[in-house]
Amino acid sequence: MTSPAPEADVSAAAYREAMAQLASAVHLVTTDGPGGRAGLTASSVCSVSDAPPTLLVCLNRASSAYPAFLRNGVLCINTLSAGHEGLAADFAGRVPPGERFTGEGWGQLETGAPVLSEALIAFDCRIVDRHAVGTHDVLICAVAALAEARGADRLLYANRRYHVLPR
Ligand SMILES: Cc1cc2nc3c(=O)[nH]c(=O)nc-3n(C[C@H](O)[C@H](O)[C@H](O)COP(=O)(O)O)c2cc1C
Repeated sequence: MTSPAPEADVSAAAYREAMAQLASAVHLVTTDGPGGRAGLTASSVCSVSDAPPTLLVCLNRASSAYPAFLRNGVLCINTLSAGHEGLAADFAGRVPPGERFTGEGWGQLETGAPVLSEALIAFDCRIVDRHAVGTHDVLICAVAALAEARGADRLLYANRRYHVLPR
């Protein structure tokens, strides 16, 4: 069977427009350690394996938080719920990097990465591998601990805005 002919090159703008059609969960990805405390909003989180529990997150190397993730080698993926739209905007750049953790409600689990106590689910991780692809690094993360706040409605991002998915 012959493979279909390759598509013509796709522009970055067309790709972003296509990706805007997908609905994604929204997370605050955070870190702390010798490289300092840092975090950003991210949607590019995906499960890799349950044996051992592993997930991936794609980080733009140009983001202010990137050097801290690299140095600390740990991170926490804090999945947001309905009502966290403001936090998502803050960690996406509305608030300067040094002022993103001023509010209450942060703790930690195994690795020392900041855990949002109201997160729908928190995946506390050690970064075990890293692959550069284009502008981003794909970080492969081994899950060291979990924390769950049951009962909240989900927050989704689709078509460049936030939506609530009732539980
Ligand atoms: C909904 C949403 C999802 C995002 N997903 C990612 C992501 O997966 N990876 C990433 O590197 N940046 C992502 N960003 C961008 C970062 O949150 C942030 O805007 C960027 O790192 C600039 O932050 P800085 O001011 O700390 O440099 C996303 C932003 C939004 C609003």
